[in-house]
Amino acid sequence: MAIKSKTIFVCSQCGCQLPKWQGRCPDCGEWNSIVQEELQVSSAASTRRGPSVMMETQPLSSVTADEGQRLKTGIGEFDRVLGGGIVPGSVVLLCGDPGIGKSTILLQVCHHVCRQNKVLYVSGEESLRQIKLRANRLGINGDDLLLSAATDAATIVESIKALQPDLVVIDSIQTMNLQEISSSSGSVTQVRECTQQFIAAAKSSGVPVFLVGHVNKDGGIAGPKVLEHMVDTVLYFEGDRNLSYRILRAIKNRFGSTNEIGVFEMGSVGLSEVENPSKMLLEGRPEGVSGTCVVSLLEGTRPILAEVQALVAKSALNAPRRVTTGFDFNRTNLLLAVLEKRAGFRFGTLDAYINVAGGLRIDEPAADLAVAMALISNLLDKPLPTDAVAFGELGLTGEIRAVSQPQQRINEAYRLGLRTFILPKQNLNTVKQSEFPDAIFYPVTNLSQALNLFSKN
Ligand code: TYD
Ligand code: MG
Repeated sequence: MAIKSKTIFVCSQCGCQLPKWQGRCPDCGEWNSIVQEELQVSSAASTRRGPSVMMETQPLSSVTADEGQRLKTGIGEFDRVLGGGIVPGSVVLLCGDPGIGKSTILLQVCHHVCRQNKVLYVSGEESLRQIKLRANRLGINGDDLLLSAATDAATIVESIKALQPDLVVIDSIQTMNLQEISSSSGSVTQVRECTQQFIAAAKSSGVPVFLVGHVNKDGGIAGPKVLEHMVDTVLYFEGDRNLSYRILRAIKNRFGSTNEIGVFEMGSVGLSEVENPSKMLLEGRPEGVSGTCVVSLLEGTRPILAEVQALVAKSALNAPRRVTTGFDFNRTNLLLAVLEKRAGFRFGTLDAYINVAGGLRIDEPAADLAVAMALISNLLDKPLPTDAVAFGELGLTGEIRAVSQPQQRINEAYRLGLRTFILPKQNLNTVKQSEFPDAIFYPVTNLSQALNLFSKN
């Protein structure tokens, strides 16, 4: 069988194949994403035809589906994000910036799992000695944790079949390669084909596989977007590298909700779970100062409190600065425009800075009211009550719209000692106020009602 080498051009974003190079992918529209790759094809393969048989079908009611016993990682936050543990035969992709702690958390997961199960940890990035040094630092030692520094995907798949471990970690998928593919490790074809091999191994043997994935400079998964479609679960490990805490988020999960987050703190002995993130995020909050407002957010089913800070200062520039950290830039502009048009505040000559303390990233419209309150508090230099918390979505006409699950949001804030609640009026109707005996509620239907609160104190 003759083997021919063929040059193809592949989009590193969507995996689309082209006969020649182009500046822009015609499929996904991404610029500068086409890379050249060598593909080896056997001439016999293209002419081979399978037999024409009909596929088998089965009524839905007769299909038996048992999820199987989920494997607990022993790390509560991690299990929650996965939807209650690791599903047998599932493939989980864990992505994140370099140095964020992907290898660390997976080694910790292995440590917990290997107490009762056999675990295989394959690293293509680090030598066994380096892994051992990290394990020493984390206080990990175990006979049921098998290590290997390998990069050949076919060998690893064979080893999985022979060793029959209960969990496999591949760190990272970009370092893996298949010999029959001539392009280098990390290339689109290699990443896709290696993933395919690991998925096939996981599905046939029922062994769950964790793949570590690199992210590119835009924060997307390096390699084709199809990788995300192929695996069962995609987790992102994120956080500010200068700050100690990290958030684990599910972007896709075939076996659970994608709303859950897990919060961890990186310390000298690895990552530890943060059971009360709200308390941590509000630590060191300034009191009696203008330009800060606490917001009660909902991350999945879990309420989290965060502090929104705003600073408004006279601008020295013709076009005033708008700087946001942790909050959407365009949303800030929109809120400034609403405040200007509907409440008559002038921001045209003022710089505006928004910061969400603790490095948290807010993408919930429920934070609108808190951002607006923080901005106006700083503009008027009037602090909000120290125990105040605000939530509500701001509409373009200046109306404050209801948000989901007010009871949980209030509950979390009440638990931490906050007693003044500024919230959409519609939401207050559904809240069981008797559960919060000494709380003060300020229901608001529009922006001017909310801003009137500043004249009260
Ligand atoms: P690592 O897991 O190697 O990151 P990744 O695999 O995502 O590239 O984590 C490396 C970082 O974590 C490094 O900057 C040091 C820090 N770290 C700690 O602060 N404490 C620890 O106990 C460990 C093991 C790492
Ligand atoms: Mg690593």
